Formats: sequence, C-alpha cells, structure tokens
Amino acid sequence: MLRQAILKTAASHRARRAIEATPLTRSVVDRFVAGEDVPAAVRASGRLQTSGCLATLDYLGEDTTDRARADHVTRQYVALLDALAVAGLTGTAEVSIKLSALGQALPREGEAVALENALRICAAAARAGTTVTVDMEDHTTTDSTLGIVAQLRREFPQTGAVIQAYLHRSEADCRELATAGSRVRLCKGAYREPASVAYQSRAEVTAAYLRCAEILMGGPGYPMLATHDPEIIEAGTRLAAGRAGGHAGYEFQMLYGIRPGEQARLAEAGHQVRVYVPFGEEWYGYLMRRLAERPANLLFFLRALTSR
Ligand code: FDA
Repeated sequence: MLRQAILKTAASHRARRAIEATPLTRSVVDRFVAGEDVPAAVRASGRLQTSGCLATLDYLGEDTTDRARADHVTRQYVALLDALAVAGLTGTAEVSIKLSALGQALPREGEAVALENALRICAAAARAGTTVTVDMEDHTTTDSTLGIVAQLRREFPQTGAVIQAYLHRSEADCRELATAGSRVRLCKGAYREPASVAYQSRAEVTAAYLRCAEILMGGPGYPMLATHDPEIIEAGTRLAAGRAGGHAGYEFQMLYGIRPGEQARLAEAGHQVRVYVPFGEEWYGYLMRRLAERPANLLFFLRALTSR
C-alpha cells in the first residue's frame, strides 16, 4: 500500500511541483545528489579527492524506452569523462552506468543498443584513463547485464560488475567473477525481489553478503565492498588484513551523503574509500523510485539525515 501511495504521489505533477518547491526537499536532495550537471559532478569529485576519497559518478536516469534519451545519457557520460580528464581527476574518479538508462529495455534491439552505448562510454573512459562499473538492476536483468559486462570486458578488461548479495544465485556468480583482473562491487541489493530469487530477512541478507565477501576477498580479483553496515565493514577490514598486497587491492564504497563520518574514518585508517555520486536533473524520479521499490529505503535516507 505504501508503495502504491509513493508511486501515485511520484506520478502527480502537482505533488511533484509541491515536493520540489519545499526547502526541506532541496536540502534532502543536496545531501544525496551532487548537482544537476557535469560541472557540479566534477566539483564533487574534486572535493572528494581533496578529502582523500575516490569517486564513482552516476548520471541519473534509468528505465529508458526512448532511443534518443539513451543516446543523450551516453553523450552526458562522454562529456563527463572528458571534463574529468581536463580537471585531472581521472586518477580518483570513475563512472557507474545503468544499462536500462542506455536502452536495455528497448523492444527487440534493447541489449544491442545498451551494449553499443556502454562501449562508447568505456572507450571514453579508457581515453580519459579511468574505468566504468555497470550497476545491477532488478533480477529480470541479471543475466543480460552480466552477459553485456562480459562482452565489455573483452575490449575493456577493467570494466566492473555489480553483484547483489540478496540473490540466491550470487555466491555462484562471485565464484565465477573472482578471477585476476576482475573488478566486482558487492552490495546487498536495493530492489524488492520475490522470495523465489532473493533472501528476504535482514539476517539472511547479511549472512549472504558475508559469504560473498569471503569469496571475493579470498580470490585474486579486485573486490569493492559497497555497504554502510558496520557489521559488514568490520568483517571486511578483517578479511582485508588477511589479503596480500595491502590496501591497494580492494575498496570500501558508500553512497554520497550517507555516513560521511565513517567514510572519512576508513580513509584515514588507510583503506581506499570510493563514494558513489549521483548527479543530474532526474533526481526526483531517482529518489521516488528508490523509495517505492523498497519502503525500507525511506528509513535508510531518513537515518542518514540524523546520523554520521
Ligand atoms: P543497510 O541499509 O541494510 O544498513 C545496515 C546498517 O548500517 C544499519 O542497520 C545501520 O546500522 C547502518 N547504517 C546504514 N545507514 C546508516 C546511516 N546513514 N547512518 C548510520 N548507520 C547506518 N544496489 C543495487 O541493487 N544495485 C546496484 O548497482 C547498487 N550499487 C550500489 C553502489 C554503492 C557504492 C552502494 C553503497 C550501494 C549500492 N546499491 C546498489 C545499494 C545497496 O544494494 C543497498 O541498498 C544499500 O547500500 C543499503 O544497504 P547497506 O549494505 O548499506 O546496509
């Protein structure tokens, strides 16, 4: 019911105007979204670099069924990568892409369009001297997304994949991906998924995350532990201590605006910390969809407003 109410509110133009106009909304959005355009994203990357953190930038917008929009998103990423190179930030900033924003859901030719657009972005990233990580969306797209990542890796072996620990299949996917040179971001998973494919309870998801983290941190690849969960961060630091190669061989990752104090603490302790920075004019749809997909996300954002 809450989900229906959020979606109904999100779709209403009047509600949208009212929500966008309130000062509280502006301050909430500014906390979680770095700005609306490429210069704002570049400035946020610079601030993170100064504070000793890495960045991965996400141009907001997903679920495109419009070819022109998918091309627009691709051009924005290319412009962003060029701007990061000019600003000298590609040593610390990369980009995260969503295949649904690049055309994956277009009828018939969706996968081919998304692959073509993703290849253009990977080529721009390679020119700029940085990398791309491909976000994971709902479970109906997992096979398609991993297939496209495998194709991208043939030409751009540094391309990162995302694994969602809540899916039953993910331990097997981690085993497959825990190879030399393979960059894998491990997150809990943000979508509302059925029990047939995903663990439902918090305890089960945490336990699944820890099993996946052990596989990735025990392998020769490059694990990226994306979480704000203190229990997992503590386990991650223990696993990191047992790895050869020191701090250079893995990362912790967190979202922009969530637990900034913990981000700084980990960076000061010598861990690599990468902050996921969403930007773009599509922030309204982004926040509303996140809340609708999983009302627990509301709690997640609210908690961030009151804590460090
Ligand atoms: P969770 O939200 O379960 O929180 C666990 C505990 O952490 C809380 O109980 C609390 O103790 C502590 N905590 C959390 N927030 C806090 C706060 N603000 N202040 C203090 N304590 C707090 N998902 C997806 O499906 N596909 C994707 O591609 C990505 N990509 C991605 C990239 C990055 C870099 C991140 C960090 C996350 C994603 N996600 C994602 C989202 C991810 O799947 C997940 O929904 C969120 O990270 C929330 O899960 P957590 O592991 O952070 O813990």
